[in-house]
Amino acid sequence: MTEPLRVLILPGSARTGSYNLQLARLAESLLREQGAEPLLRDLRALALPLYDGDIEASEGVPQGAHTLVSEMAAHDALLVVSPEYNAFPPPLLINAIDWATRLPEHKPAMAGKPTVLLSASPGALGGIRSLLSLRSFLALNPGLLVLPQQFALNQAAQAFTGEGALRDAQQQQRLQGVLSALLCHAGALRAA
Ligand SMILES: Cc1cc2nc3c(=O)[nH]c(=O)nc-3n(C[C@H](O)[C@H](O)[C@H](O)COP(=O)(O)O)c2cc1C
Repeated sequence: MTEPLRVLILPGSARTGSYNLQLARLAESLLREQGAEPLLRDLRALALPLYDGDIEASEGVPQGAHTLVSEMAAHDALLVVSPEYNAFPPPLLINAIDWATRLPEHKPAMAGKPTVLLSASPGALGGIRSLLSLRSFLALNPGLLVLPQQFALNQAAQAFTGEGALRDAQQQQRLQGVLSALLCHAGALRAA
């Protein structure tokens, strides 16, 4: 039997009650239903300071960045689930990736790794405006293979059932399709 595909989930918000965390947890359970092995990484738990060249020079790259890069290396695919702050990805996510890229081993861990982007917002656009810059940020230097499929959940405050599914069956289906595309690419790369 082949090993399940391993997906590292990176939520860009760690706040209590985060809609993106809710969406990440839903994606986690849908990926498990599809036979994958997801791991939801709490970026806040990495305790990464705001990137500062003086910290790097005096103390080196923090342990949290080593942990993140090792986890990326150990997974077949990445799923980023992120809020939008002023039409841009949030500092929690950008800062973690910036630290990760200070380690030379980020290249084999990230380059060419299939990735999809999800966002959630209580607003009308679901955070979709931030996905363009997030896409180029992740593709340009870390070299992640960011797939064209993406999903932005608008009106997120009303979107979830008490059990954590999406109220709108069509939206849930679209989300499932995006996750299937990720597994499909990761599976094809593993088989190649
Ligand atoms: C600094 C800041 C800027 C924001 N800018 C946007 C924005 O550009 N578009 C948007 O849809 N929501 C924006 N919001 C609202 C967030 O979508 C909302 O706070 C959301 O709940 C954050 O995601 P979370 O629930 O996963 O923590 C902003 C929130 C903050 C704190």
